[in-house]
Amino acid sequence: MIFESKSLKVHLRDDGIADLCFDGPGSVNKLDLATLQELDSALDHIKASPDPVRGLLLRSAKDNFIVGADINEFLDLFDLPEAELSGWLMKANHIFCKLEDLPFPTLSAIRGFALGGGMELILATDFRVLDHSAQIGLPETKLGIMPGFGGTVRLPRVIGTDNALEWITTGKTHKASAALAVSAVDAIVESSHLIGASVGMLLDADKGLLDWQARRQAKLKPIPLTGVEALMSFSTAKAMVIAKVGPHYPAPIMAVQTIELAADMEREAALAKELEGFIHLAKSHTAQALVGIYLGDQHLKSLAKKAARLSHPIHQGAVLGAGIMGGGIAYQGASRGMAMVMKDIQPEALELGLAEASQLLEHQLQRGRLTPRNMADVLNRIVPTLDYTSLAQVDAVVEAVVENPQVKATVLAEVESHVGKDCVISSNTSTISIDQLAGALKDPSRFCGMHFFNPVHRMPLVEVIRGKHTSDETIATVVNWAVQMGKSPVVVNDCPGFFVNRVLFPYFKGFTQLINDGVSFEYIDRVMEYQFGWPMGPAYLLDVVGIDTAHHARTVMADGFPERMSILPGDAIEQLYAEDRYGQKTGKGFYLYGKDNKGRLEKHSCEQSRMMLIKDSPTPLEDETIIARMMIPMVLETIRCLEENVIASPAEADMALVYGLGFPPFRGGVFRYLEAFGLEAFIQLADSFVHHLGPLYQATSTMREMAAQGRDYLTPPSSHQGG
Ligand code: NAI
Repeated sequence: MIFESKSLKVHLRDDGIADLCFDGPGSVNKLDLATLQELDSALDHIKASPDPVRGLLLRSAKDNFIVGADINEFLDLFDLPEAELSGWLMKANHIFCKLEDLPFPTLSAIRGFALGGGMELILATDFRVLDHSAQIGLPETKLGIMPGFGGTVRLPRVIGTDNALEWITTGKTHKASAALAVSAVDAIVESSHLIGASVGMLLDADKGLLDWQARRQAKLKPIPLTGVEALMSFSTAKAMVIAKVGPHYPAPIMAVQTIELAADMEREAALAKELEGFIHLAKSHTAQALVGIYLGDQHLKSLAKKAARLSHPIHQGAVLGAGIMGGGIAYQGASRGMAMVMKDIQPEALELGLAEASQLLEHQLQRGRLTPRNMADVLNRIVPTLDYTSLAQVDAVVEAVVENPQVKATVLAEVESHVGKDCVISSNTSTISIDQLAGALKDPSRFCGMHFFNPVHRMPLVEVIRGKHTSDETIATVVNWAVQMGKSPVVVNDCPGFFVNRVLFPYFKGFTQLINDGVSFEYIDRVMEYQFGWPMGPAYLLDVVGIDTAHHARTVMADGFPERMSILPGDAIEQLYAEDRYGQKTGKGFYLYGKDNKGRLEKHSCEQSRMMLIKDSPTPLEDETIIARMMIPMVLETIRCLEENVIASPAEADMALVYGLGFPPFRGGVFRYLEAFGLEAFIQLADSFVHHLGPLYQATSTMREMAAQGRDYLTPPSSHQGG
């Protein structure tokens, strides 16, 4: 044995090949700070080996090579003073260069994932051999940063500039065959031959049969591009990136600019350019936000894993109601391999529910994501029915009938009398109290809310709502069911609007107040979409939700929280509702909706709603003021939910907003947004509106205390770890 540490071992084989094997303590190998340090020592020991070394093989003892750097460490690292962060990157690059400069050939044998830092590591070796399970890629730009261990320097020198720009700016993962097609790797072999073939290549290289020195030289020198080629490559890449990601995601464009600047440089100078770009991005709010979302998602997954241990297994589910939501839920469960009973009282509704599922499947079939056989299997798993008999066998039920407390109470009581004693029962209600509905059941401990978002197949969030009597086992089972359906569940406590609608309606009230004050709804939509980054502005979102639905839901919110959420008489929602302009479902609301020539819904300006809702000379307000007046109510209500324990943590709140409402990911959610803003500054801004706009803009006393003590809401990154 040449070297042994916690995450890796090196031994010298009889044939003179040093075999460096990663085998970290967790289920996957990560290139965390400790492993980097160990790699450095291992390389020193290999260089100092008293026995001659003919080549170095890098491999993993696990099913994956290295899944990347340890993202749990990122936020702490990014917070370091610039000089320290830069010192860490230089150290890492020094280690990678030490590997690249070893006086004998080097090769990485890869199975499973080699991503991020793992991929940058294999780029530092002379050769790469894969088995069919291997997948490689540089996903850093998806986290708002770019490769920082030489990826932007080595990849274009290995696969050419155009390919490298595409790989790095999209952050996609590539299968073995795609990697071989662009010569990112040298061979794909059967898994059983991976080590044998790799050692064979190293021995051939040692004998001079493979020119490893030339490989290495190409990575040390400038990229061989003519001026015209460079101009074409970089200007095309920039145009594509700007068109694709827009102005809020700086990482891909920074990666292109860095590769361009370093194109005519040798390795050391090019690495220094990469370091500059990396630090610039690591210090941005966007990187903090996107890494925060990744960690938040991991946190949700770890909570779901815990829940799975307490949960009943769910083999078969049922949904009551085959409408927009019921049909969507049945499809979602069936497409994830679960048998789903779908019950309605009208045969036509069942037909519509099935037709909707077929249409979604058809779409995937056309895109080649599904075979006709798979499509038939999914449809066969949906069992339409008009009676309760098929419910006897199911493990979990979600009720999604019309939003009427009496109808729901009757249906829930009927369900309870037909299902087995271990079956959990939930409701997809959007406005009715879970505790109120629980009153219809003999055993309320088996009941909770399971709030999906529309369209079900697309929206990742499911709010799981705990009532007063709900048991932990019921919550765990419904969380597990949501995960089985491919969704991200967040558990919240019962209150009007639960969590997501409770924070959405204050935002809508901020919107209608702005219209009352003479600001054009179209202008507000533009500001909230283009500047703030919402996928749709508030007027468009209300049209999609349905003006009638919003009209009903906000009366519930106003009853629950009259001080802040009372309805402004005659406001925009009232006016549209009175005119039967219910939004997309009626073809007109704030906007008009028609179909384009491919049958897709298209939004148009509407003269009538403009006349109704926009003053002749709309009041100009600064964009920043519009954003503040829209966002402060949402942020404050989110904080109230945290203070009242409606939501358990800032991380869960942020994830619920990103997954349930499409809160702009580059802002990371309400708490990340608040952190970027600064708590003190935010309170001051809110205070400036209270006098004119009322309690919707009133900061809480806890916030003020926290600001006075210099504290903020975000959980320290260390407690995000897990999963
Ligand atoms: P929908 O009106 O499209 O569908 C309701 C279905 O329930 C109809 O097919 C109806 O025939 C059926 N139904 C009525 N009485 C029934 C009974 N006794 N047994 C079985 N089926 C019965 O309504 P939608 O939009 O699907 O909403 C369903 C539930 O989901 C409501 O509670 C709603 O508040 C909630 N929700 C709706 C969202 C949306 O965007 N549409 C979003 C989230 C929740």
